[in-house]
Amino acid sequence: MSRDSLYSQPRKQVVDFVFDDAVVDVFPDMIRRSVPGYETIISLLGILGNQYAQANSTVYDLGCSLGASTLSLYQQIKAENIQFVGIDNAPAMVEQCQANLQKHMPDSQHQVICQDIQDTEITNASVVVINFTLQFLPVETRNSLLKRIYDGLLSGGCVILSEKIQFNSEQKQSAITDWHHAFKRANHYSDMEISQKRTSIENVLIPETAETHIQRLQNSGFNTAEQWFQCFSFSSFIAVKA
Ligand SMILES: C[S@@+](CC[C@H](N)C(=O)[O-])C[C@H]1O[C@@H](n2cnc3c(N)ncnc32)[C@H](O)[C@@H]1O
Repeated sequence: MSRDSLYSQPRKQVVDFVFDDAVVDVFPDMIRRSVPGYETIISLLGILGNQYAQANSTVYDLGCSLGASTLSLYQQIKAENIQFVGIDNAPAMVEQCQANLQKHMPDSQHQVICQDIQDTEITNASVVVINFTLQFLPVETRNSLLKRIYDGLLSGGCVILSEKIQFNSEQKQSAITDWHHAFKRANHYSDMEISQKRTSIENVLIPETAETHIQRLQNSGFNTAEQWFQCFSFSSFIAVKA
């Protein structure tokens, strides 16, 4: 696994963050050292997914990156004849994800599609995972995506949504941001790397509050919507279609 040093040198101008070849190369290291709780979410979403997966249905991983969520779901789901579909709009991610799934789940039915998740047709789904990806979509498009996920789910199916969240209280926001930076420093990111990454990502990752996510899930039609995980500002929600 290559070590993330993308922001270790001073840059004259820090450009907006993109999921390109350079990021793919260091992605597992970057996400593990940047997102507290990431590995816990990945392993638990497989366990949660198994509770809702139905035989002869499709399991979607929207914004699949290198396939970590799909692999966790594959390892845990006991239901038979599951079709795994991963979607990502970064070609370099899709290429590497295809290789990962072929290597680690060769006996499964799976496909990885290079596509904008706003265009993905969701049908016959029992589990839809959208792990740290909705936050990169324009805010005004998020309601319609959640509604399409709801419409494409079978009765009894679930969506698992993980997001970086923000807080209404400035004091709480400031404290949690400080904790997150301390976590990154403890994982050997320098202050310059933390600052440059922050500048690069702030125009492309637009966080919302936990209350906004729960409200959107309810407005989309889900009758149960729970925040099941939070570590600092990194959170995960599950909503079930009746
Ligand atoms: C933080 S990563 C997701 C991590 C991944 N789900 C995991 O758990 O390891 C965000 C991913 O979403 C993808 N992405 C961002 N916007 C997208 C869009 N509109 N359509 C499809 N993929 C998108 C990026 O290319 C990137 O791979």
